This record gives sequence, C-alpha cells and structure tokens, in this order.
Amino acid sequence: MDNKNSIGIFDSGMGGISVLADCIRILPKENFIYYGDSKNAPYGIKTTEEVMELSENVCNYLIKKNVKAIVVACNTATSASINILRQRYNVPIIGMEPAIKPAIENYDGLIAVLATEVTLREKKFNNLLKVYGTNRKIVKIPCPNLVEIVENGIVDGKIAIREIEKCFEVIDISKISTIVLGCTHFVFLKSTIKSIVGNAINIIDGNVGTVNNLKSILKSNRILNTENSNQHIEFNNSGSEEDVLRSKKLLKIYSENAK
Ligand code: SIN
Repeated sequence: MDNKNSIGIFDSGMGGISVLADCIRILPKENFIYYGDSKNAPYGIKTTEEVMELSENVCNYLIKKNVKAIVVACNTATSASINILRQRYNVPIIGMEPAIKPAIENYDGLIAVLATEVTLREKKFNNLLKVYGTNRKIVKIPCPNLVEIVENGIVDGKIAIREIEKCFEVIDISKISTIVLGCTHFVFLKSTIKSIVGNAINIIDGNVGTVNNLKSILKSNRILNTENSNQHIEFNNSGSEEDVLRSKKLLKIYSENAK
C-alpha cells in the first residue's frame, strides 16, 4: 500500500465531517476522501443488519478508490459493523468509541451518554460499560432527532434548542456531571448543548481519540504520509449536491470554531 494514497472517511451523513475536520488538523500531510451516506441517514434507527449492509456498500466504494485506511466516523456504523468490516477488508479500519473511559477517569458524578438507539443497544457499547462503568451511574439517552437536525444543517437556534431540551426531559440536568457525545453528529451541537446545560457540566466526545488512534495505526503500518505539502479533500455524498455543499459549510463552521 502506497503511503500517498488517501484515507477514506465515512458516516451516515454529516456527523463524520467533525472527525474529518480533526483529521485535517492533526494529519495535515494526508489526503482524505469523505463519503456521507445522507440518502440513507439516519442509520441510528435501522436494524443492525441494515447498518452493516450500508456500511459495506460505502467501504466497497472507498476501496475502489484505493484508500489506504478507512475511518468509520459514525458511532452507529462502528457499533453495528466494525468487526465484519475488519474481517472483509485488507486495510486498517478505525472506528469511533463513546468517550466513556475519559469521562470516568477525569470526572466524578453522573455521566449521561447521548447517542443513537443502535449505538446504545449494541454489544460494543454495553461491553464498554461492563469494562469501565460498573461502579458509576451512567444514563443512556437516545436522541434520534438530533441526527436529523444536523443533517439539515441546523446546529443552533430555536429548533436545535427545542430538540436538545426534549432529549433532557428524561433526566434532571442539575444531577449530571459529564455528558458524553456518542454520535459524531452531536459534536456540531456542543455549543448549543452547553448553552442549555451550563458551563459547569463537562461535554466530551471521541473525535480526537479516534484521530490519534488513526495516526498511530498509520505509523505502525508504515503508511503515514510525511511528504505531502498540498493536502487534498474529496467530498462525496449519496444524497444531493446540496448535501455536499452542506458538508463543506459544516466543515468550515467546525474548523473555524476549533481555532
Ligand atoms: C445516525 O446516522 O443515526 C447517527 C450516526 C452516528 O451514530 O454517529
């Protein structure tokens, strides 16, 4: 495998753009091919088998583009299909993991995990709780509507606030110490969530952990690009041209906020 080949990144739609933004920042010498499956979003309310099939279709597309590694920048697709993808393809496959471990290691008190129904019900997440969370109170909050609003490019304002508040109706916010964003779409909503829950609550996600993991896997497989001075990003989407434009807009917003 040539270390000059691009890295493929995919998500059910826009969420993985937040991971792409961190990849661009942390790995400035790598080229990326992003695929958003907006036509089939949201993945989080589908059956495990449906998510597996969709994930395989996207990986087939990326493999045909000769990518040297694939980042599954979607917690739902990771939960449902990472094992099968790793068996099927000959390139490193890197997935997402809700940041339960850092939440437990760094903060005391109640942890609320916001994610899709698939992520919260799958074995992968529940094993994570068994390994790290046995002595801690962890509340799972499925938030399917938040995926939809981000797909529509809504990350703040009245609609976003109303949908986020609905998610927190199941819990007394004042009891929460830390919120784990277990869906890459929700990363775009971080500031709006903060404006609702207040600055005293920690809000964490798994993006940087995943990108650092990608970097060390590229290094250990000797496929890290160290020479490229002209980073190239390709955008693809199963939806419309408008979805591609929306992805680029979200990338710009996220990258500017991260500065
Ligand atoms: C979804 O498509 O429902 C959300 C994707 C994710 O879990 O990151």
